[in-house]
Amino acid sequence: MTLQLGIIGTNWITKMFVEAAHITGDYQLKAVYSRRMESGQTFADNFSGDIEVYTDVNDMLTSGIDVVYIASPNSLHFIQAAIAIRNGVHVIVEKSAVANTNEFEQLYSLLREHPQVRFFEAARHIQQDNFKALETCVNSMEHISGATFVYEKYSSRFDAYLAGEEPNVLSPKFAAGALADLGVYPLYAAIKLFGLPNSQHYFATKLRNGGDGRGVAILRYQDFDVTLIFGKGANSYLHSEVLGLRDTILISNIAELEEVKYNDGQGQEKVISKPGPANPMVDEAATFARLINQPSETEAEYQDLLLLSQRVNHVLTALRMDAGIVFPNDKK
Ligand SMILES: NC(=O)c1ccc[n+]([C@@H]2O[C@H](COP(=O)([O-])OP(=O)(O)OC[C@H]3O[C@@H](n4cnc5c(N)ncnc54)[C@H](OP(=O)(O)O)[C@@H]3O)[C@@H](O)[C@H]2O)c1
Repeated sequence: MTLQLGIIGTNWITKMFVEAAHITGDYQLKAVYSRRMESGQTFADNFSGDIEVYTDVNDMLTSGIDVVYIASPNSLHFIQAAIAIRNGVHVIVEKSAVANTNEFEQLYSLLREHPQVRFFEAARHIQQDNFKALETCVNSMEHISGATFVYEKYSSRFDAYLAGEEPNVLSPKFAAGALADLGVYPLYAAIKLFGLPNSQHYFATKLRNGGDGRGVAILRYQDFDVTLIFGKGANSYLHSEVLGLRDTILISNIAELEEVKYNDGQGQEKVISKPGPANPMVDEAATFARLINQPSETEAEYQDLLLLSQRVNHVLTALRMDAGIVFPNDKK
């Protein structure tokens, strides 16, 4: 079934998602929500077809759409997802899904009351074939000694921060900052590959607003540690690695996964990745459509994804608390 799609948030990432959704052939954009009619219409004009623009989110979520893609600032994800679930609309919400464990638990309860609704966190990298190749390779390693996952990129909004402004993506007010925005990618990878850590610590470099601009998080497992390095105010060119004994997996970038190589430490190195789709959101869009359209066949796969999202949210909240970063959403 072609899913009637609505969107919240009209920035570039939403355009990329709608393009990916259309490439799969599983979705048709039908409804756009924006705070302003003019920006909603400008967004809708990128696409053909019969697309309604709304400035009231309730109206959009009761307009008969099947699924909503939410790419607003993180602090709004919870309330917008809750309205969608109550109205029987499937949710694809951008990372990081919600601000804290309390919000996740409330959504979880709502989902139990609306079992026909599916809820997905758009962690695009774990749906890519190259991540699956990485996972297969990790599972075949005889021993894991540790891992380091790096995602540190100078943000297009960091100039504004340096000029004295407070862009949403760097602000605790919007449940954002380096960990919530970029750290979530290496964290997702770690929890997908190795499960929940026994404990976690976050050494954050703070911004003047009390949020985090960069940081190093350490996840402690039974027999090894995983180090996550991420940030929004500098460019790192370090690659990511999973360490075996002699053998090592080398990953060009844990969020983009352009190249993944296995080095046996005895002279052989083999590329285990393949060139991915030009639009990195196609794989996740296709997975979510399949899970929505074939609910009974995919129940176990869906529950695994929901549990993964909950675990990531749990560790994300614990890391943030460890660094003493408070979001206004924590006080609601
Ligand atoms: N998967 C990825 O690769 C990727 C990449 C980038 C971002 N993201 C995620 O996408 C989400 C949005 O990120 P972004 O950087 O695009 O955020 P943003 O620019 O701060 O806001 C996104 C949209 O939300 C609306 N908005 C902005 N400020 C708002 C406010 N104060 N109150 C209510 N609505 C507001 C705007 O839409 P209107 O003006 O039309 O209302 C805007 O286009 C985040 O969760 C982020 O983590 C994911």
